[in-house]
Amino acid sequence: MTLKQRILDEIIRGGPMPFERFMGIALYDERGFFGGETLRSEKAGDFLTSPEVSPLFGETLAVYVERVRDRIGEPFQLVEVAAGSGSLLKPLLARADVVALAVEVSPAARRSLAEFVEVSDSLQKGIRGIVIANELLDNLPMALAQKVDGQWRERWVGAEDEDLVFVDAEPRAEVLEWLTAYAGPVDEGGWVEVQLAARSWVCDVVERITAGSLLVIDYGETTENLRGRRRDGTLRTYRAHHLGPHPLDEPGETDITADVNFTALLDVSPDTALHRQDDFLVELGLRDRLSQLRKEELESARAGDEMERLRLRALKTEAETLLHPRGLGDFRVLEIRIDWNSDHGA
Ligand SMILES: C[S@@+](CC[C@H](N)C(=O)[O-])C[C@H]1O[C@@H](n2cnc3c(N)ncnc32)[C@H](O)[C@@H]1O
Repeated sequence: MTLKQRILDEIIRGGPMPFERFMGIALYDERGFFGGETLRSEKAGDFLTSPEVSPLFGETLAVYVERVRDRIGEPFQLVEVAAGSGSLLKPLLARADVVALAVEVSPAARRSLAEFVEVSDSLQKGIRGIVIANELLDNLPMALAQKVDGQWRERWVGAEDEDLVFVDAEPRAEVLEWLTAYAGPVDEGGWVEVQLAARSWVCDVVERITAGSLLVIDYGETTENLRGRRRDGTLRTYRAHHLGPHPLDEPGETDITADVNFTALLDVSPDTALHRQDDFLVELGLRDRLSQLRKEELESARAGDEMERLRLRALKTEAETLLHPRGLGDFRVLEIRIDWNSDHGA
């Protein structure tokens, strides 16, 4: 039975389902996009993330990890949630000598990670250190709402013949509450992704950190800056590095994602900052590393070492990609500091 058929059967038996249930099955069922044996986040996969673009991403974040460790002292642990293939952790751990744990729900990703780091499928309590999540929140199941006749309506998933279709539903109380707090002004017909799970995830992780910080890196914006994207909403699919079909058309076969609304996460904890990825990486020294790479590339050209020159040029291009102001540089880094002011070991 295909995953689409399994969803159709559930709808025929129990009626339409909220969009977040559909998205949860489409991505995380054992036949779902992340549930199977295929590793999705790698160069040959379906999308390219910052750590997959370059080891310089993990290397640069190692500077942040060391700073926080200097600040709060030992014991100290680094936890990466949604660690994918391990492309962030590997270069980071080569540079910073810290105890690390990778948390993943995808069996394919867990297998890749287990080659070099301890792996778990859930986060423990009482973490002293840093939790990092790169491109997790945009993949957490979300509800969908649309403005109709000046009122919010939910869009659930129903069945029509053999197709999955959006159906109208009365908005649930928690959805309305989120929309009232974070949707901002939305014109008639506008679509909003209601990211309740992203907020609960951040709240839950903050509770688990006794001292240290949470870094959440993703595409997205504040409510105000998402305003121009509300006519069609930001929900979309990816497959093989390109925009894919309609989100309801091929469950399990495509990534389903939306821009993260960071305004809905900023009030979770008092010591919170929102950075652009380019600014954050530059502050940690990536621009200096880029200048160094330029210098070394010239030197290797002068010395006639073509292999080395090409290696350095590739690294330089990768650093530029991470900092591109309209590409990865335009991602956001949500930094939540927990108990930095107490007098810990550092
Ligand atoms: C877009 S990929 C990003 C992978 C990696 N962070 C990167 O940047 O290349 C999203 C990953 O989140 C994982 N994931 C989703 N929900 C999760 C959860 N609740 N806990 C841990 N991992 C999760 C998926 O299995 C998938 O590997």
